[in-house]
Amino acid sequence: MPESPIRKLVPYAEEAYKQGKTVYHLNIGQPDIKTPEIALDAVKHHGLDILAYSRSEGSEDYRKKIALYYQKNNINVSHNDIIVTTGGSEALLFAFGSITDFGDEVIIPEPFYANYNGFSTASGLKIVPVISKIENNFALPPIEDFENLITPKTKAILICNPGNPTGYLYSKEEIKKLAAIVKKHDLFLIADEVYREFVYDSKVHYSIMQEDDLKEHAIMVDSVSKRYSMCGARIGYLVTRNKDVIKTALKFAQARLSPPTFAQIASEAALDTPQSYFDEVIEEYVDRRNTLMSELKKIEGVKVGKPSGAFYCIAELPIKSADNFAQWLLEKFDFDNETVMIAPAAGFYSTPNVGLNQIRIAYVLKKESLIRAVAILKEALKVYKD
Ligand SMILES: Cc1ncc(COP(=O)(O)O)c(C=O)c1O
Repeated sequence: MPESPIRKLVPYAEEAYKQGKTVYHLNIGQPDIKTPEIALDAVKHHGLDILAYSRSEGSEDYRKKIALYYQKNNINVSHNDIIVTTGGSEALLFAFGSITDFGDEVIIPEPFYANYNGFSTASGLKIVPVISKIENNFALPPIEDFENLITPKTKAILICNPGNPTGYLYSKEEIKKLAAIVKKHDLFLIADEVYREFVYDSKVHYSIMQEDDLKEHAIMVDSVSKRYSMCGARIGYLVTRNKDVIKTALKFAQARLSPPTFAQIASEAALDTPQSYFDEVIEEYVDRRNTLMSELKKIEGVKVGKPSGAFYCIAELPIKSADNFAQWLLEKFDFDNETVMIAPAAGFYSTPNVGLNQIRIAYVLKKESLIRAVAILKEALKVYKD
């Protein structure tokens, strides 16, 4: 199993704490936004006598409410098209397990969410990457690049929309291009839409589930983790209108018995979160993104892709190895006893030696902390020697 490219730096961060340094975490995807009270209250007042297993596919009431949420978002699915999973992570594992055999291939635009490496290794799959470029803001690579990589072993194309780590939001036209190619070659299109709610600049998220033509070919992965700042609930869903995929995924779900019961109670209640909560959260992220972009632009030699969604961006630094730089920041550097922890982007690529001078920044810190963190980064780059 591949090591998480982010977590491998944790011992160095611990060393920095021991040295009494303050560390600004630009490396993690844990939002600092409050979980909706309505979700926490539902667990506080649960009224259960037995904390029992739920159905393997998740409670029926909850799935019916999820289907209503999707219908409001122009995605026409029923509760029978949904399996509740232990986070989006498990939905990805179920999707891979359900549609592939050992040795099959999945094409993924890179940079991609690093754990796709782990999920594909665990499922005995090979990831076939298609490089997307910072110069194009990580837009969808030409569709011919995908087509050239399709072999008899290819089972799916996987996208993350909006993207972690790029923040790129695929347009309706890009989704349509992908839809056409998966239909032509009879593949699945898996879309990880866990950041679907985080879309900025009046742009609109277009889901693969809105493509009527893709009925049998589309599998969506979703999660409550970021939407309601409920990462610890461990609830996600696999959504597809393909009955065979649901039938197979259910066998995986049965093997692990049930998604967590308390977390389903919290997540069901979270569906009643008022729109004002999301409006405020989006406003906050837009403000943070704008701050981060303008602060990064003040550093000479830094190139950055502008995100339209999620809460990450990739920045290219005037250095050779972001891996070495990230370790050095924690081990050797401080600016008034403060430093930053960054995620080297190489771990988000599967092509070797690509993105070596790039980092992923998560803007899950308050605006003042972001300004300070980028100022520290700027000072560090002044003195750092590769
Ligand atoms: C793109 C993406 N997909 C899936 C996940 C998995 O999230 P969870 O298992 O908490 O739902 C994450 C978590 O950071 C993510 O960033």
